[in-house]
Amino acid sequence: MLQTTIEAMLRQKIGLDANSIGSNSIAYAINQRRLCCGLPTLQDYYDRLKHSSEELDALIETVVVPETWFFRDREPFVCLKHWIKTEWNPNSTLRVLSAPCSTGEEPYSIAITLLEAGLSSAQFQIDAIDISQVALEKARRATYTKRAFRGEATINPTYFQAVEDRYQVRSHIRETVQFMRKNLLEPNSLLGHQYQVIFCRNLLIYLDQPARSQVINTLDQTLSFSGLLFVGSAETQQISSQQYQPVAHSAAFAYQKIKPLPAAPPKVPIAALPKPKPTPTVSLSKLEQAKQLVDRGQLTEAAQLCKAHLALDRTNANAYLLLGKIYQELNQIQPAEQAFQKAIYLNPNFYDALIELAVLKEQQGDLATATRLKSRVQRLLNL
Ligand SMILES: C[S@@+](CC[C@H](N)C(=O)[O-])C[C@H]1O[C@@H](n2cnc3c(N)ncnc32)[C@H](O)[C@@H]1O
Repeated sequence: MLQTTIEAMLRQKIGLDANSIGSNSIAYAINQRRLCCGLPTLQDYYDRLKHSSEELDALIETVVVPETWFFRDREPFVCLKHWIKTEWNPNSTLRVLSAPCSTGEEPYSIAITLLEAGLSSAQFQIDAIDISQVALEKARRATYTKRAFRGEATINPTYFQAVEDRYQVRSHIRETVQFMRKNLLEPNSLLGHQYQVIFCRNLLIYLDQPARSQVINTLDQTLSFSGLLFVGSAETQQISSQQYQPVAHSAAFAYQKIKPLPAAPPKVPIAALPKPKPTPTVSLSKLEQAKQLVDRGQLTEAAQLCKAHLALDRTNANAYLLLGKIYQELNQIQPAEQAFQKAIYLNPNFYDALIELAVLKEQQGDLATATRLKSRVQRLLNL
């Protein structure tokens, strides 16, 4: 009972969905903190927690997941570099936000990417925020072990200086990043800031639905029109297709904020309008309708629309992908898995479906299948 109450405190303060990391992990964290405080019972610890914001901060430090590494997932950084080279106006200052930044690998990877895209350090500013003071202190120290370079990141001496058995980010990179402690769940946490690029990866998966919407809303208010929003591979469902357009870069999980349409012209009587030509893309618009229903949270109706569409066209891999995502959102894991498998059967190189199924398998604890699927994705990326 007391644990449930403490979980509710965490939910309220940082939006944490206890199921995302599991009640056992939370029980472990609470116990760790109780022992640190030298308190004999859970009731004693709860009494302390209720009246001490410092203890709540300490508990938050214990439950957050600071896992990150340099150039995590690679493709978002490739996509950012391409965008800088093709779309960004070099006469303006580029403002980038990494939220959450954890121990700093992500914002430093962004800085390196921007320099490699040809910008000078005077042409951009990176703000990096996180709730964890411990993570931020490590980020400011900017000294990492080899583990921070897992994946394919190379330790380039232009950007890293070897210090004994560790690697320190060189000062010309460090100086481009400003770290700040902020809680993304706090209203107005980013008030007054404006960014052209936002990285918000691997946070939403830990939050409950109201907290996810709140974070997306906060970020949306600070992102310029036509700016880019990067999310994690399992977080794409949170992005509204009415406000954001996916960037056509496989595995980047990047979205461009759509510019609002100019004001509608005055209405012309229908009789005066030329007859529109019939459009042949009925099946696509049905799927689009289903996506819009998903954005509005009408998941059951969206699933019905997808199924109705699939009854007429059983070969549409995109429809199966969408159906799988809807089932996942409805917490119907078995049908979600079947839908992703059908999408992959129809299109064995279907990147998004392979990723969705890999993440689902990982969540089920089937790490062997998840690894196999990720290797398939990796082979696709190397093609
Ligand atoms: C898994 S890391 C993600 C780091 C990086 N974006 C990446 O993808 O590698 C998640 C981070 O979210 C931070 N976090 C959790 N809740 C937060 C909140 N409400 N506001 C700001 N940061 C939060 C944690 O402290 C942790 O460092």
